[in-house]
Amino acid sequence: MILTRVGGREGRLDTLGHAHTKSAKVVSSRIEDYIELIYELIAEKGYARAVDISSYLHVGAPTVTKMLQRLDESGLLVYEKNRGIVLTDRGRVLARSIVQKHHTIARFLSLIGVDEETAQSDTEGIEHYMDPKTKDQIDLFVRYIEANPTWFKPYKAHMKRSEK
Ligand code: FE2
Repeated sequence: MILTRVGGREGRLDTLGHAHTKSAKVVSSRIEDYIELIYELIAEKGYARAVDISSYLHVGAPTVTKMLQRLDESGLLVYEKNRGIVLTDRGRVLARSIVQKHHTIARFLSLIGVDEETAQSDTEGIEHYMDPKTKDQIDLFVRYIEANPTWFKPYKAHMKRSEK
């Protein structure tokens, strides 16, 4: 197939290709998945175990062990086999920023009319692939709307009218 270079088409294809390469971004998104889950597990249950991570992320025990060792080596957590997982200060700082990012995106999706459950699951799908600047822009938008509800009112009415 010959791809003609018409108007920004090539640029779009480049972006598509780039978004799907197994880049550092994909690896770091996986790290974020682990750190976020460990943080949530500790917040909810008081502890995080490899077996829970395995079941929540749908990955095998050896993969989880390998990743936990890697995260331990990078100083984000302390992992000792058969004992709980503890986030280091650095790990906690990263976890809080991930949770904050999650909150911002989920909030944005519900503001534009996505139901709560879908907003939560879609956020899981997109949050780790987002450029930090994109997240900042969404954050700015969400904060503005929350501080200026009258500004958003006509759009809310528009959404209601489009509901089927
Ligand atoms: Fe999340």
